[in-house]
Amino acid sequence: MTYRKMLFCSSLSPIALGLGIGFASLGTIPPAQANPCAAKACMENPCCAKNPCAAKNPCAANPCAPKNPCAAKNPCAANPCAPKNPCAAKNPCAANPCAANPCAANPCAAAQPAELSDAQATAEWDRLVATMRTTYALSNIPAAAQFFDWINVTKNPYQSSTHGDRYLVNIVNDTGKDYAKWEEAGQLPAGSIIAKPTIVGKTDGSADIGPLFMMEKMPTGWNAASMDWKYTMINADGSLWGQTKGTNSSGMNFCFECHNAAGEESDGLLFLPEEYRR
Ligand code: HEC
Repeated sequence: MTYRKMLFCSSLSPIALGLGIGFASLGTIPPAQANPCAAKACMENPCCAKNPCAAKNPCAANPCAPKNPCAAKNPCAANPCAPKNPCAAKNPCAANPCAANPCAANPCAAAQPAELSDAQATAEWDRLVATMRTTYALSNIPAAAQFFDWINVTKNPYQSSTHGDRYLVNIVNDTGKDYAKWEEAGQLPAGSIIAKPTIVGKTDGSADIGPLFMMEKMPTGWNAASMDWKYTMINADGSLWGQTKGTNSSGMNFCFECHNAAGEESDGLLFLPEEYRR
């Protein structure tokens, strides 16, 4: 390029710019043709800072994506169960997938119960048992109405950090009685049911009914993702919260995401603290 041409170019551009501004302000040349973010194009373009469509933009309404890009990668970060869990070190659920669904009615997050002594928990349990029986039966899940007549494998109610710090016992049906062989139990046969009714401690030393947790072993091939366990949770008012492959099935996935950590040889079972085993 000659020196002369350079002069020509550099002297022409300010003129062109000036003309462009002039035209734009007169409205004779729509600036949108050159700039997709300008004027009219802005209406459709969600990249524009002052996008008038932002309110309708489904991405703008998503509070999860832009604010916390780590949440998806580290479901434990938000886990309300982790810090309180005294078993964390030995617990196969330390990499707790419970928080994978922190927005749902996560039974680990929902309650913030008070501590009860063993004596208080047992007394409150005895007081509430009859009401639990009728309340859980409201769910119309047959096992929820029957399990109080089965085998209680727990000495007295213990606090379970992985089930929302509630106090609970484990009750199994006859088919699942090998559960009480604990780590030697192996694979339980189809038809085995384990029920975990709960009570929630209150600061005055009394308790309220909590949700009922259940696992039922289904025939091989029923649902490989949950090791063929059907997980059920019934709310404290007796309504059904969810069931694997049934109501709110996806909301129940966090149950097996944690339980599967026990592995095939333990059949997804995590068992109770030794001092509470009967
Ligand atoms: C963060 C991990 C975690 C999640 C999530 C979890 N559990 Fe458990 N579950 C355990 C642990 C640990 C035990 C054994 C110790 C205890 O009772 O606290 C257990 C025990 C059980 C048992 C007795 C059988 C066994 O494995 O020993 C049942 C039934 C049960 N859970 C049901 C459920 C249901 C239903 C859900 C979902 C609504 C659920 N659990 C979610 C960790 C979890």
